[in-house]
Amino acid sequence: MELKNKVALITGASKGMGQSIAVALAKEGCSVIINFKSDSVSARAVLEECNKYSNGNLVLQADVSNEIEVKTMFEKIKKTFKHLDILINNAGIFDDNDSPSNIDAFENIYRNNFLSSIIVTKYALKLLKIGKIVNMSSIHGRLGYGRPTAISYSAFKAALENYTKNLAKALAPKILVNAIAPGRVMTSMWGKLNNKEQQELGKAHLIKRMIKPDEISNGVVFILKNDAICGEILTIDGGYSLLTLD
Ligand SMILES: NC(=O)c1ccc[n+]([C@@H]2O[C@H](COP(=O)([O-])OP(=O)(O)OC[C@H]3O[C@@H](n4cnc5c(N)ncnc54)[C@H](OP(=O)(O)O)[C@@H]3O)[C@@H](O)[C@H]2O)c1
Repeated sequence: MELKNKVALITGASKGMGQSIAVALAKEGCSVIINFKSDSVSARAVLEECNKYSNGNLVLQADVSNEIEVKTMFEKIKKTFKHLDILINNAGIFDDNDSPSNIDAFENIYRNNFLSSIIVTKYALKLLKIGKIVNMSSIHGRLGYGRPTAISYSAFKAALENYTKNLAKALAPKILVNAIAPGRVMTSMWGKLNNKEQQELGKAHLIKRMIKPDEISNGVVFILKNDAICGEILTIDGGYSLLTLD
């Protein structure tokens, strides 16, 4: 698919991978819709960066786990663009209280990392008739397990991958649906890390460093440009998954 002049919604684009994806798509000539939940200052900075490369870019606040807010966001998208070509379901959270006995954490992760993508996709499909959807999974979803301290995170990323494949079957050939499963990416999701902490986390990968957000957004652009990738989960994990057995 030629990306120039396409309209792309990226959820959770005020920082991290979403920011990198928004800028990468603007560089390809897309009009990008930068969704965010709470950090309007960062979202505006992403908009300014995107405006250097493409026209018609927009910032829209909405909590994507809240159907009413998503509905309102899509009313605004419809008024401005009439249609959508690309949806990147990227927004997500990590919950430090994630544990086998914490139902609140399960519900929080379920709403923000899984149900959110389903809600956004439901409204996107009213405007997106031909195009692409990319969901943001995790290597924890890809492998089917993760850390016990991320038990609900792993479970709902695995659910997102299952949803991705069935959605791909439902929507092809007009809409191609795929996902990306990153390893440890250097974003604010990890909090503020000093160099030593980054190095420690990077040791989990064969590449012996954390992954850069741009190495994920390159993968998104690759998937979007290729019209033969359908129902795929692209692993970008620096070899992390190969290190789980020795
Ligand atoms: N970082 C990693 O190592 C890693 C690895 C594998 C997968 N992932 C996945 O990659 C995605 C992006 O992660 P990241 O590391 O880039 O995270 P990040 O730096 O913490 O950024 C998260 C983004 O999501 C937005 N967001 C969170 N909840 C939202 C909601 N309910 N509605 C709308 N926006 C929401 C945040 O908006 P505000 O800041 O405005 O609130 C922010 O823009 C997530 O799905 C995550 O699970 C991350």
